[in-house]
Formats: sequence, structure tokens, C-alpha cells
Amino acid sequence: MNIIQAENYQQMSELAAKKLIEQINSKSDSVLGLATGSTPEGLYEEIIKAHKEGNVSFKDVTTFNLDEYVGLSKDNDQSYYYYMHKLLFDHIDLKDNQANLPNGDAEDLQEECSRYEASIQQAGGIDIQILGIGLNGHIGFNEPGTPFSIQTHIVDLDASTRNANARFFDSIDEVPLQAITMGIDSIMQTKQIILLVSGSKKAEALEKLVNGPVTEDFPASILQKHPNVTIIADREALAELSQ
Ligand code: GLP
Repeated sequence: MNIIQAENYQQMSELAAKKLIEQINSKSDSVLGLATGSTPEGLYEEIIKAHKEGNVSFKDVTTFNLDEYVGLSKDNDQSYYYYMHKLLFDHIDLKDNQANLPNGDAEDLQEECSRYEASIQQAGGIDIQILGIGLNGHIGFNEPGTPFSIQTHIVDLDASTRNANARFFDSIDEVPLQAITMGIDSIMQTKQIILLVSGSKKAEALEKLVNGPVTEDFPASILQKHPNVTIIADREALAELSQ
């Protein structure tokens, strides 16, 4: 694993944007794996800025998001569909039909999981995957205990994850109980991973990810086995590692 230290959140976002832009400028039809949460918001701002300055075009790019809540419609402002459109897609020249998210509102959720996984394969696989990490080591919404062999699937969200994400909702009761997520196997098949970590709250999780045992109890630990991972983390997030 390659670890890059950023001074702060802003620099982490800029470094990640530079890598994504380099990827797209060297392969205009790149397939990107995108993440939600607070962590990549700065990255998306930097990308929009670069696009507006004429430094990158998404017209041939395809994107796949990691996950989506079950039961929220696209116009629900807490759905990841809404998040991606508001924070990125509405401001760049990515074609609508090339921006993919799991449909958490599908009638047949199992079928939706298979369809989503197949569409990643049809696009030729993901060239570069952006990841964040949950406090309990989840990546995407793969909670502790998720088999490493699993592809896109439906998950019951951990109480701790629902609590952590409650800050975006009016109350904890409104946080969905389930989500669709790309599986650990889907994530491990991506050609390159950029993991973003910011803030002291994530320091312990980052230390476990890098130095802990590879175990399904801490899903992100599997990244130790991926051949091309770059971690971009700020000083606060790296505090436990440097000790
Ligand atoms: C969320 C998302 C993950 C994200 C993680 C951390 O629940 N499903 O993809 O990486 O939790 O979120 P944040 O960046 O807000 O800390």
C-alpha cells in the first residue's frame, strides 16, 4: 500500500482530484468507482473546479457508485443519487446514462444487485475506485462480518453506522435499515483504489486497516491484499500510524 500524507482535508482533496484527473486525461473513457459520505465532498469540489477551468472532460467517462440506501426515492435529499447529482454530476459533462448507482428503490432488490454487478463487468471493470472508511472498518456499506467473497448485495446496516449517518437525517428513525452495496469482491476486482481518510476520529480505523490482521471482522483490512492501493490521509488521520 502506498500512503500519501496530506497536511489537511483540503490538501487530501486536491491530491485525490489530481490523481483522478490524470487517470481521465490518460484514458478518456475511464470507468470510475465513486463514494459518498463527507470525506469525498472536497474531492468533488476540486473536480468541478478543474472541469470549469477546462482541465478535464467526463464526456466519455462512466461512473459506478459504491452503494445506495434501500427505500429512498431518487428525489429524497438523503439518497446517494441525490447527493451525487447535487455535489458532482449536475456540474460536469458526464452523460446521464453513464452515471450508475444501485437502485435502492427497485421492486426486486436481488435482481437489482445482479444487474448492477453485471453492468460493472460490461463496462470493462472499474479503473479507479474512490473509497472512504467507516469507523467500524466498513467500506461501501460492507459491515463487519461480511464475507470477503461477496459481490453486490443487500445489507442490514449496523446500529453504529446508522448512528454515524444520523447526522444527515432529521432523526435516527429516518435512517434506512438497509442498503445495496458493491461487495468486497467487487471492490477487490477494481484495478486501482484511492482511499481517503481525514480527521482524528478515523485514526484508529486507519491504523487497523494498515497494520491489523486481515479479517472479515474489519472489512477494510482486505485492502492489504489489493495490488494497487493508494491511501491519501491527512495528518490527523495518520496520528496512530506514525506512533
Ligand atoms: C458511509 C458510506 C461509505 C463511507 C463511510 C464514511 O456510510 N456508505 O461509503 O465511506 O460511511 O463516511 P464519512 O466519509 O462521512 O465518514
